[in-house]
Amino acid sequence: MNIVSEREGFVVHDLKADDVDARSGEEGEYILGTEQQEVERLRFQHKVWVEQAYALWRRAGIGADDRVLDLGCGPGFTSMELANIVGPGGRVIARDKSERFLVFLKENCERQSCAQIELSLGSVEDIELPAGSLDAAYARWLLSWVEDAGAVVERVAQCLRPGGVLVLQEYLDWGAMRLAPRHGFFDRAVAACLQSFKDGGATIDIGERVPEFAAGCDLEVEYFAPVARAGGPGSMEWRWVEQFLLEYLPKLAERGLIGCDEVEEFGGKLAECAQGGAAQCCAPVLVDVVLRKLLPCGSQPQSPSRSARSPELT
Ligand SMILES: C[S@@+](CC[C@H](N)C(=O)[O-])C[C@H]1O[C@@H](n2cnc3c(N)ncnc32)[C@H](O)[C@@H]1O
Repeated sequence: MNIVSEREGFVVHDLKADDVDARSGEEGEYILGTEQQEVERLRFQHKVWVEQAYALWRRAGIGADDRVLDLGCGPGFTSMELANIVGPGGRVIARDKSERFLVFLKENCERQSCAQIELSLGSVEDIELPAGSLDAAYARWLLSWVEDAGAVVERVAQCLRPGGVLVLQEYLDWGAMRLAPRHGFFDRAVAACLQSFKDGGATIDIGERVPEFAAGCDLEVEYFAPVARAGGPGSMEWRWVEQFLLEYLPKLAERGLIGCDEVEEFGGKLAECAQGGAAQCCAPVLVDVVLRKLLPCGSQPQSPSRSARSPELT
């Protein structure tokens, strides 16, 4: 892979589809993998959560001409949405450690003639941008997988201008996932997933640590709201959870975290619960967070459009 330029601390790579093998894993990839199946899962997951994301971006005041960093952007479904919000006068820096995901995003940008997205390959732990150069940064389902999430928040805080925002949508209580009424086969699957996250070094409920991270680096917790969703068979929530478990459980059986027979029977048992008609599926609980970079003592916000915009302004 060639480096084509270096701009403001970011290395811009010449990403090519030929460089990445779509079938096998990438070195150092995150726990759920970066294969096409994961791209499709993330695409559906984005569909389930996109309205929630827009509501939070509006609340945070992200708008036209803003310069936004999308941390751990994956295949870039949120980067594309953010690019629409900031428009041609803005910029979205899409940062991920997966080359395969960035190639996917690059092709999407080319297809949609979206010039305001800049691809940035590498770990979020190595971000180097000029101090105060960002209006906003956004991360969804990222910090759980990062070794030192507090250090990432600190680094990003330095890159935000005073009054800028760090917007997060992270897990607060993954283990809240269950069927109502409860079923042992489902609870065992959830327990196996939680164990796998732990084994992989992830801190899945990282949302609960965010206020502590913010306190150390001039970020004020402006908004911190748990998001619990549930739905019956066929609902977005049900399908989201079902798709995740059907794809992830076989990997856990390979690691001995759950029995192969349990995995084989899982789909059938879930379908039985669905046919019964009375079941609800509770999704993992997320937390929506807006952290605002404090203004220097005694100073005024730069302008209403570039500081704490009210949630009503879209
Ligand atoms: C669950 S996916 C979420 C993707 C995207 N934020 C979304 O909402 O669809 C997690 C992403 O974080 C990326 N990731 C994990 N650790 C990372 C790190 N240290 N630096 C950069 N990206 C990372 C993974 O490659 C993956 O794309």
